[in-house]
Amino acid sequence: MSAKSALPRHVAVVMDGNGRWAKQRSLPRLEGHRRGAAKARQIVEWAADCGIRQISLFAFSTENWSRPKIEVRGLMSLLATLLPREIAAMQQKGVRVRVLGDITALPKKAQKAIEKACTETAANSHIDLVLCLNYGGQQEVMAGAKRMCRWAAEQEDVAAALDSIDVSRFRNFLWCDDLLPVDLLIRTGGEHRISNFFLWDAAYCELYFSHRYWPDFERDDFEAALADYAGRERRFGKTSEQLISEQSGEKCSDSFAVRGDDAL
Ligand code: IPE
Ligand code: IPE
Ligand code: MG
Repeated sequence: MSAKSALPRHVAVVMDGNGRWAKQRSLPRLEGHRRGAAKARQIVEWAADCGIRQISLFAFSTENWSRPKIEVRGLMSLLATLLPREIAAMQQKGVRVRVLGDITALPKKAQKAIEKACTETAANSHIDLVLCLNYGGQQEVMAGAKRMCRWAAEQEDVAAALDSIDVSRFRNFLWCDDLLPVDLLIRTGGEHRISNFFLWDAAYCELYFSHRYWPDFERDDFEAALADYAGRERRFGKTSEQLISEQSGEKCSDSFAVRGDDAL
């Protein structure tokens, strides 16, 4: 017997490889992004069909502003034109659109399209689609630290307030505070890095790397990622035996809830 994970509740995807997909076919990079956007629509459907609660798609990172202006403009205009066309289908499928990242830096047209998608789908509850736009994990953690300091400064005993913040309470200061923790992070395109995505949750989420370029990522590939996840054992520092006895309802008598020499 082993303690395996089942279906991830929150899947985050680094949709990478659009440019190389296009280059391979001697097409402009923007055509790769167009195909990538169509794939984004599909993965939301696959995830909804499987019963996944939240899917976060990395669509534009804080670092992507460094790309050629024409590519950035193209990406923003794809967003502004394609998102409104998806609203009716999202309503039907029960998709609620949410955003992670500072969208105030985006062109007005893109901002409006995002706000409209969020407002019109706000009552849906089958699956959350979290669009990560102008998102950076380091920026999120830094903003969280500042928010925590401001909160502490308003408390009567500032030092005690800061001391009361542990790892799980700190997450409440992050932009992702109202999202489930990421269980599975998928990256397509063959690179083995996080590229500043969901840094806080990356501490313990499961990583899955696919060599496929994002426009070539198919339902079978997605299901392979889910099957791989289902076979993983998420131990969070514990032993396999502890997990098994916890799953079978036994209380593990030889574990300590507290750290430190006194407990040992
Ligand atoms: C990911 O594909 C999409 C965005 C970053 C917006 P890329 O454009 O990074 O594709 P590659 O990595 O150059 O192939
Ligand atoms: C990560 O891909 C960002 C998105 C998919 C939006 P990049 O292509 O920008 O990442 P790096 O530059 O290869 O790390
Ligand atoms: Mg890339």
